[in-house]
Amino acid sequence: SKGTYPHYMIKEIDEQPAVIRKIVQNYQNDNGELEIDAAILEEMTASDRIYIVACGTSYNAGWVGKQIIENLTNIPTEVHISSEFGYNMPLLTEKPFFIFLSQSGETADSRQVLVKINALGHPSLTLTNAPGSTLSREAKYTLLLHAGPEIAVASTKAYTAQIAVLAILGELAGRRKGFALDLDIAHELGIAATAIESIIDEKEVFEQLSVTHLSTSRNAFYIGRSIDYYVVMEAALKLKEVSYVQTEGFAAGELKHGTIALIEEGTPVISIITDPTTAGHTRGNAQEVISRGAHSMIISLDGLDQPEDAYVLPKVHHLLTPLVSVVPTQLIAYYTSLHRGNDVDKPRNLAKSVTVE
Ligand code: M6R
Repeated sequence: SKGTYPHYMIKEIDEQPAVIRKIVQNYQNDNGELEIDAAILEEMTASDRIYIVACGTSYNAGWVGKQIIENLTNIPTEVHISSEFGYNMPLLTEKPFFIFLSQSGETADSRQVLVKINALGHPSLTLTNAPGSTLSREAKYTLLLHAGPEIAVASTKAYTAQIAVLAILGELAGRRKGFALDLDIAHELGIAATAIESIIDEKEVFEQLSVTHLSTSRNAFYIGRSIDYYVVMEAALKLKEVSYVQTEGFAAGELKHGTIALIEEGTPVISIITDPTTAGHTRGNAQEVISRGAHSMIISLDGLDQPEDAYVLPKVHHLLTPLVSVVPTQLIAYYTSLHRGNDVDKPRNLAKSVTVE
């Protein structure tokens, strides 16, 4: 039930720190060490390329997963939209390993890919929130998200849960490959959970920002680079699906190659800046839109912040910044939808689980 919450979406946003802690607990053995089925790690690390296949928010989580897995395991990883992959399959390597991301485990677009790769005899792992779901039953292996039921059509806690489980998988696979990783992912996930709590404690900041800058605008942009680009794709999907504001999530450097033509007086442009290597470049892009009249709002990571920033995120491990940077964007989507008078939990034209291709 919603309890005292007005909507499932805000309840599920609030649950994220607890979900991350529960995931860590669920993947710890009696000695307090992270552990997953050794057969998964064996097959995954024997692979020469990982293919992540998913739709919507799960697809966006997949891009963060690619960053984490490549970083920790050195295995090249591709991310694909299910409905494209099944009918226009890329050339596969000799030893592919498939990871399906699906909160519901029932997404037909993803299932048709699983059926095809099962017929080809390739190993697969489903990360899902739904034990016993179709994608879980039909894949060789399953890892559960342990996020609890996600009722709001807009996915929030499943995104962060997928990233947390992928991070655990990445660390264990990296160790299985023999890498001496200078990383304690369980500890880092705990830090991220606490950081999310502090952002949620300040949710009025994002309500105010939504009321002032998004509740009447026709369109909006999120921009970011590198790992922040992956997050802005999810930020844009969330805002458009619940608020109906036409939103694009763009690689910041790509804006000037065409899309900047859409910037008008007052167009909201939200930049996410957590990646030190590209922070200066993204700030430059924010300046470019400001000089064309945009209303720029920068969400930056502690240590990379500037006095003019709209919000500063607590510092977390560099592979886990999406866990914190996505939260303001979920809150912005929620409050923009709320103040536009939309049905927050059941946005028009959408279903929670999409069981047709
Ligand atoms: O259950 P799945 O993770 O397979 O669902 C995939 C998408 O349909 C889902 O993420 C959708 O994009 C949500 N409405 C996003 O909030």
